[in-house]
Amino acid sequence: MFNIERFDIKLDTDFIGRNFIYSEELESSNSVLMDKKNNYNVNGTVVLAEKQSKGKGRKDRIWYSAKAQNLTFSILLTDKKYFKKNFSLINFAISLSVATAIENLHQIRTEVKWPNDVLVGGKKIAGILLESISQGSKIERVVIGVGLNVNQVMFQGSFAVEPTSLKLELNDETIDREGLLAELLNTFEGNLDKLIKKPDNILKEWKSRCRMIGERISIVEGDSERYGIFEDIDDEGFLLLKTKGKTEKIHFGDVSSR
Ligand code: BTN
Repeated sequence: MFNIERFDIKLDTDFIGRNFIYSEELESSNSVLMDKKNNYNVNGTVVLAEKQSKGKGRKDRIWYSAKAQNLTFSILLTDKKYFKKNFSLINFAISLSVATAIENLHQIRTEVKWPNDVLVGGKKIAGILLESISQGSKIERVVIGVGLNVNQVMFQGSFAVEPTSLKLELNDETIDREGLLAELLNTFEGNLDKLIKKPDNILKEWKSRCRMIGERISIVEGDSERYGIFEDIDDEGFLLLKTKGKTEKIHFGDVSSR
């Protein structure tokens, strides 16, 4: 069982996770924060679920996670200064935070994969799902969902990228979830500050951890598959794919090496 007191002692933030909602089971922590009827409006609110009955992944996939073994949680941002300019920087800030929190606590090398997976040794250790609500053309609430595989050792099903967990990568060591969540949220708050003050640094840091830049890749989106060289990420967070004689801007898709 997640020990809230132990987590709280290690949390060193001003606002992220200060309003903390713990649930043994719910449908999806993202859905809870997206639904305005639930009346969660405090900037930085975190909802942690030990089990989700309808965990959401990207592209309408289901996110399965064994009960009380991993970290499945969502963060609410309502302060518009974080998403006024470049929404996709939030994407980079959270995946970077997951990657660096793992490295800082456990000294294993992590990588990020566009748009926002975190990998260890080429396997997926965390997935991120960003959702937002807009009023007219203005975004007014952003929900950042993180599914981080911590102590789960068996994964069933078929996966686009093979899954792994910290326990699997660390010779069966059982990981302290409370310390890891606190470290992750502490890092994320720092990155949010950077996002305002030095947005270029977030993008630069993210790119330096991105495994496929410069490589020949394929991108699958729905029924279409594109091939080319992963040239760069532009300032808006789009993937630049070099194909015969031109560079295409890619907005969505599953990337793999060729
Ligand atoms: C992906 O497909 O890689 C994204 C997975 C995101 C899963 C997390 S678990 C916590 C939060 N609540 C959800 O329903 N989804 C996200």
